Amino acid sequence: MEDIIQFDNYLKKFKKKLIGPLNCSIKKARITALLGSSGSGKTVILNSLLGMIKNFNGKILVEGINRKSLKYFKVNKKIGYYTQMDFSLYNVSAYKFLLDISIMMGLNKKNVRMKIENWMKYFDLWEARNKSIKSFSWGMKNRMNLILCFIKDPEIIIMDEPGANLDSYWRNKIKNLLIEYKKQNKTVIITVHNIDEIADIIDDYIIIDNGENVFNGSAEELDIYAKYKVYINERFNHKNFRFFLSEYGIKAFKFDRDENSLVVAIENFKQINFLFLYLIKNNLPLKNLVKLPINMESIHKALESKKLMQS
Ligand SMILES: Nc1ncnc2c1ncn2[C@@H]1O[C@H](COP(=O)(O)OP(=O)(O)OP(=O)(O)O)[C@@H](O)[C@H]1O
Ligand SMILES: [Mg+2]
Repeated sequence: MEDIIQFDNYLKKFKKKLIGPLNCSIKKARITALLGSSGSGKTVILNSLLGMIKNFNGKILVEGINRKSLKYFKVNKKIGYYTQMDFSLYNVSAYKFLLDISIMMGLNKKNVRMKIENWMKYFDLWEARNKSIKSFSWGMKNRMNLILCFIKDPEIIIMDEPGANLDSYWRNKIKNLLIEYKKQNKTVIITVHNIDEIADIIDDYIIIDNGENVFNGSAEELDIYAKYKVYINERFNHKNFRFFLSEYGIKAFKFDRDENSLVVAIENFKQINFLFLYLIKNNLPLKNLVKLPINMESIHKALESKKLMQS
């Protein structure tokens, strides 16, 4: 798979904060999530990629073109960007605003009106087209921001926290759009707080913590941090079970007496068989087996134990 964006020793220094060094790449026609807790540097990295932050060290390349070079304006045309923008200064109708912006962005005048109509209908703003955007609710403003991101039909879509301020109905619509864009060989970069919401569409992850890159790889590679919760339908000796699993290199975590469950970390799918082996040997009925969502906390724990094992 071809790399479309590269960070080459990217480093941004603020007085009190260092973001980077970041060395990683983003693949074309994939959905990449930029993940990290609040304040870890996601927006700063995206703003640098978009050219809104200019004084950083290292390089950002898009299709091989250096972010700092003059040819860069050409690349910007291919990028659609979503962020939460407030329109309270704009006292114009939603339709007029989109028309002006579209023409400013260089969209083809012939079909621009049709495009605006289609997108306003898609995001349920067509009825409100003649209202001033100043008066729009937060949800409506966010949908305007979504239109601004998609109307260029960009090759690269960058979305900073698209889930915030949108309910599950709209989040699902965005999800479907992104799946559609990927099919058209387009590249998507998205930042999120809550991975669970979109984990099913993410191909690759870049995880940063406190400005440092802690993980860079595919969803499958991230899966080694997956944990499963085994619910058993009868009382069982959790110490015996743990010991059995440890002999196969499987780590067990929390035993919950009330739920009668045990959490285990599975590093490859074959290890799951050993869970069953124990249950069969001890004639224990399985009640449920649940894959726990991967969150920042679980990633941190996994990375810490990996460090300990290496040291
Ligand atoms: N202009 C600036 N001057 C000084 N420090 C800044 C500036 N912009 C960002 N920072 C610092 O850089 C760090 C990263 O901020 P950033 O907004 O990128 O975080 P984030 O990962 O997007 O967080 P969130 O998930 O809350 O959006 C923060 O500690 C912030 O204080
Ligand atoms: Mg941010």
